[in-house]
Amino acid sequence: MLEINLSGLKLKSPIILASGILGVSYSSMKRVIDAGAGAVTTKSIGPRPRKGYKNPSIIEIYSGTFMNAVGLGNPGIDNFVAEIKEAKEHTIPLIVSVFGDTNDVYLDVAVKAEKAGADAIEINISCPHAEVSSIGIDKGLTFEIVKFLKEKLTVPLFVKLNPNVTNIVEIALAAEKGGADGVVAINTLSALKIDVNTKRPILSHGSGGLSGKAIQPIAIKKVYDLYKVLKIPIIGCGGIDSWQDVVEFFLAGASAVQIGTAFYKGTEIITEISHGITQYLKDNDFKSINDIKGLAHKFKTQEVPDFD
Ligand SMILES: Cc1cc2nc3c(=O)[nH]c(=O)nc-3n(C[C@H](O)[C@H](O)[C@H](O)COP(=O)(O)O)c2cc1C
Repeated sequence: MLEINLSGLKLKSPIILASGILGVSYSSMKRVIDAGAGAVTTKSIGPRPRKGYKNPSIIEIYSGTFMNAVGLGNPGIDNFVAEIKEAKEHTIPLIVSVFGDTNDVYLDVAVKAEKAGADAIEINISCPHAEVSSIGIDKGLTFEIVKFLKEKLTVPLFVKLNPNVTNIVEIALAAEKGGADGVVAINTLSALKIDVNTKRPILSHGSGGLSGKAIQPIAIKKVYDLYKVLKIPIIGCGGIDSWQDVVEFFLAGASAVQIGTAFYKGTEIITEISHGITQYLKDNDFKSINDIKGLAHKFKTQEVPDFD
């Protein structure tokens, strides 16, 4: 019931591990797959090892809602190749998230990941607290990088969208025009929290990205808006914490989902969520998760209020 074909990737479940959470070592990826995920997305990998920001780099600000500025700390692609190979030897469906400072660097990292066995590449052009965000806020730059990478890569290419823009739809359309095989909506929302006692921003970097429960309705709205215009699949991401959250993303038009922050509760949440979705599909006489995709769009929302 949960199997999907995502731009040619055949997955046993539409639930994918989001980038930045547990996707750094083969052993953590395996735990996520064993719990029932259809694929894992790796931490964003760049050309060289990078330390990331000092602590505090992640804080819980409301129950289930976090803010982080980890600063794209990662081992660098040359060190990470061994991890990709090990994951592939154990047939883990693997989306490798990549970033760089120029289109050529993105390409170099992506090609190394593809050669090592990545099933798909996701480009992070959207991290709110790192320099890569500048691509994802510009439709021209987004079109160019996607087109450039698509000419050279053979595996599917997904584009992770930045929600910190005036019009996410036009950026997504630029990615689609460039040849993207799908978009991931959304990355974290730019945010800032100040400690009233020390009178300074709490995170070492100052601002950070908001994730978890509070952003779920925002992500749903983005997916809903994107579904109206895009032809390529949308991978919904943001604040998923329950099976109802996943169902909502599908009703809004997602073809798959990614979960990040909620893993602070443990990998069992995937098992719970998978059972919940399966039960929902059975209770409502649906044969497949695909059957509920975009159903919320059948409801005609009220455009102009009636006069009394
Ligand atoms: C600690 C942390 C690290 C993250 N690192 C990355 C990253 O390296 N690359 C990326 O594209 N997104 C990264 N993200 C964003 C998540 O993949 C996801 O888009 C966002 O957190 C919203 O989903 P969630 O509410 O389920 O966590 C990170 C998020 C968190 C909380």
